[in-house]
Amino acid sequence: MLRKNLAAGGAAAMLLTLVLLAAGCGGGGGGGGGGTIALLLPENHTPRYEAADRPDFQAKVKSLCSDCKILYSNAAQDAAKQQNQADAALAQGAKVLVVDAVDAGSAASIVSKAKAQKVPVVSYDRLITNSDVDYYVSYDNTRVGTLQGNTLIKGLKAVGKPTGPVVMTAGDPADNNAKLFKSGATAALKAGGVTIAKTYDTPGWLANKAQDEMQQAITALGNSGFAGVLASNDDLGGADIAAMKSAGIKPSTRPTTGQDATVAGLQRILTGDQYMTVWKAIKPESGAAAQIAVALVKGDSVPSGLVNQQIDNGQKKVPSVILNPVAILKNNVNTVVKGGDVKRSDLCKGSFASACSSAGI
Ligand code: BGC
Repeated sequence: MLRKNLAAGGAAAMLLTLVLLAAGCGGGGGGGGGGTIALLLPENHTPRYEAADRPDFQAKVKSLCSDCKILYSNAAQDAAKQQNQADAALAQGAKVLVVDAVDAGSAASIVSKAKAQKVPVVSYDRLITNSDVDYYVSYDNTRVGTLQGNTLIKGLKAVGKPTGPVVMTAGDPADNNAKLFKSGATAALKAGGVTIAKTYDTPGWLANKAQDEMQQAITALGNSGFAGVLASNDDLGGADIAAMKSAGIKPSTRPTTGQDATVAGLQRILTGDQYMTVWKAIKPESGAAAQIAVALVKGDSVPSGLVNQQIDNGQKKVPSVILNPVAILKNNVNTVVKGGDVKRSDLCKGSFASACSSAGI
């Protein structure tokens, strides 16, 4: 019986191998093989990475190449740790690195080590500058800032303060995206005639730091000394709103921006505490990175039509997939739910049920 089962198991395994080989997913190396892909994400305090980027990327890779192996690491906002994680991935036989860099500049050494071993690197979400990176997959990050700036102008008009001034809590200056968000937003505010009273760059995108920055701004400007807040993401926006509340300011009177369409950010939009967020659906982004990584690991060419821009990273024009972000206000929060990035049951639980139903969700 045991022998019969083993024989049957052996035959099944052989059949599976043949099927996988026929599907171009068998073995490693050379044209057409599966192999090991490493995904390196930058931090775990912003909800998107563990809740969406990681599982969505893994699912897409598995759907394209069932015997591809995925190594995953999260650097918890530590650039040196990310370097070690990249070294470990290479030592464990990774044939492609997909890197969302903690530090846009120092991550260039991750790229040079990988390239020295003929391992291609996909720069995921954040561009690795001055490096020989092979592909870049992201959203139009300057446009994210433009949407934040222009929508904030709308909010300022609505509260009767069309020229501000506003406080800006921008993201981590080591993140290339933070610079792009900030420059897009600053240009939009300037073009709209809005004054920026205080600007902060928030180390590590940390909410507690943003809350301190906002507290300092309120102390310096006084409770009535600012009309709105340009926050570069939802975590920073939430922190700014917390600082306003502890100073006795009603957040709905000071339109505040965000980004990521997090559950907490959308809930604040529904209750009127936050004015807007920017939605960057994760599945198209992680899916494009997965398609490129699988093609590279198999030695296939990248699906045509995927690359839609060449972005200069200071060293070369990087073939890039650039997606379009969407501004979300109270009237279109439902778009994010319909898009599948946020579950209605998470968004509308407990005290948020009535806000959801009045917004038609
Ligand atoms: C990402 C944002 C994220 C932020 C903090 C940026 O590079 O594009 O979506 O909120 O980093 O992790």
